Amino acid sequence: MSVREVALECLLSISQTRASVSVVVDSAFQKHAISGRDRRLVNGLVYGVVRWQKQLDWVLNHFINPRFQVDMRHRHILRLGAFQLLHLDGIPAHAAIFETVQLAKRALGSGGSGYKRRARTGRRGFQAKSGSKTAGFINGVLRSVQREGHALTYPPLGENPVEHISLSQSYPTWLVKQWLETRGVSWTLAFCRASNHTAPLAFRMNCLLTQVKELRESLKASGISTQVSTLAPDGLVFVNREPTTFDTAERDNAPEGERTLKSVLNRDDIYVQDESAMLVAPLLAPAEMQLVVDLCAAPGGKTTHLAHLMGNSGKIIAADISEQRLARLKNNCRRIGALNVETQVLDATKAELGFITNADAVLIDAPCSGFGTLRRHPDIRWNRTAAQLSALCELQFNLLRNAAPHIKRGGVLVYSTCSVEPQENEEIIRRFLAAFPMYTVEHARPFLPHLPPSALTPEGFVQTFPHEHGVDGAFAARLRRKTT
Ligand SMILES: C[S@@+](CC[C@H](N)C(=O)[O-])C[C@H]1O[C@@H](n2cnc3c(N)ncnc32)[C@H](O)[C@@H]1O
Repeated sequence: MSVREVALECLLSISQTRASVSVVVDSAFQKHAISGRDRRLVNGLVYGVVRWQKQLDWVLNHFINPRFQVDMRHRHILRLGAFQLLHLDGIPAHAAIFETVQLAKRALGSGGSGYKRRARTGRRGFQAKSGSKTAGFINGVLRSVQREGHALTYPPLGENPVEHISLSQSYPTWLVKQWLETRGVSWTLAFCRASNHTAPLAFRMNCLLTQVKELRESLKASGISTQVSTLAPDGLVFVNREPTTFDTAERDNAPEGERTLKSVLNRDDIYVQDESAMLVAPLLAPAEMQLVVDLCAAPGGKTTHLAHLMGNSGKIIAADISEQRLARLKNNCRRIGALNVETQVLDATKAELGFITNADAVLIDAPCSGFGTLRRHPDIRWNRTAAQLSALCELQFNLLRNAAPHIKRGGVLVYSTCSVEPQENEEIIRRFLAAFPMYTVEHARPFLPHLPPSALTPEGFVQTFPHEHGVDGAFAARLRRKTT
C-alpha cells in the first residue's frame, strides 16, 4: 500500500469509528510495513487533514458544484490533496496533485462515481459524470485549489470573528463562540493558532537515577540534543526533532535502523510528559515517608513523578476506574522504578473513600475535555460537544465532593486538568469552596518559584496556555483542609 493509501485508510477509519487519531495511526503502523520516512508522511497527512478539515472543506467547496453531494471517500481524497497544496511546503504542487489523482484511481477504481446528484447541474464548480471521470474531477478541483485557494478571503475578523476564526483556524463554531465569550478575540485567535502547531516532545528526568547534566550528555551521545525546560524543574525538551516525527507508534514499533528515539524513550531515566503536566507533583509537594492518594492516576505520569519526589519512600495509593489503564500505570512504575506505589480499581465518585483519611495529600487529576492538548490530539475539537463538557464538569465536581469529607484536617488536596475551560477549572474550585468552606486555596507561587507570573492566576492557581508558554494548556489548584 502507498503512503497516501494508508493515510486514506486511516482517515476513513477515523470518520467511521470515531476512534482517536493516535489509536488509528498506531494500528495502521502495526498492520502495514512502512519505513520511518513514510511513517512521518502518513502522520503528517493524517494529523494535518484531521486538524484542518473544516478549513479544507471550506476551500474545496468553492470549487465543487454544490448540487453534488460528495461521499466520504472522495471527500477525504480531496482533503488530502488540498492539505498538501495549502499546508505542506515540502511537496511541489504538481506532485501533490499527481499523487492525489493516482490515489483516486487506485482507491476508487472505475466503480461508482461517489456523488449523488442533488438537482440539475449547471452551476459553477466541478462535478463527476461517471466513475471513469472521477480522477478528472479530483484533478480539476485540486487544480482550482492550487490556482485560487490561497486567494480566497475569510469573513473579516472585525465583522464576524466567529466565522473568521472558525474557518481560518479550523475549529467548530460552538467552541470558537465559547472562547470568544470567555476570553475575547485576541486570546482566541492566538490560542487557536498555537493549538494547530505540533507540540514539541518533552520528557521528565528520573531524578532518582540521574542529573540534568549527566542525562543531557548521555542523550547527546545518542545524537539527541535537548534543552532544559524553563517551566518544569526536571523537564527536558528535544530540540532536534522534526515536526510530526514522534508518535507512540514510532516509539513502540520503530523498524530496524530507527530505534534510537525508541530506545531513548524506553529508558528508565525518562518519562515522556508535557512540561505543564510536570508542574502538578511539585505543586502537591509530597514529603518523604508520607501517604499520598492519587484518585485518577492512570497511566501514571503524575504518580511516578510523586514517587520520585518522595524518593520512593512512604506510600502512594494510585487509584483509577479503569483496570486496563492501571495495568499501563503498573508497567510505567516498573520501567521507571517507582517502587512505593500500590494500585486500586475504583470509581472515585462513588467508592467509600474512608481509606484516604490517613493521607497527607490527595491528587485529583480529573478527566476533562483535554482542550489544552489540541496540539497533540487535533481530533478532540470535532468529537466533543457542549453537553459532554457539562457532563464532565459534573464528574469533576463529584470526584471532589466524594473525596472532600474524608481528607484529614490539615491535609492537602490538589485538583488538576489539561483543560483551558474556566468551567472545568476555576468554576469547579469556586463551587467546591462554596460547598466545602473548610478548605482554603494555597497560592502556587512558593511551590513553583520559577513559574512566570503569566502562568499563575490572581487566585494562585496554575494555568498554562500553548500560545503564552509553549506548553499544553493545563490547570492546577492546591487546597488545604483547615485544621479547625
Ligand atoms: C487525566 S487522566 C489521568 C492522567 C494521570 N493522572 C497521569 O498523569 O498519567 C484521568 C483518569 O481518570 C480516570 N477516571 C475517570 N473517571 C474516574 C472515576 N470516576 N474514578 C476514578 N478514576 C476515573 C480515567 O480512567 C483516567 O485514567
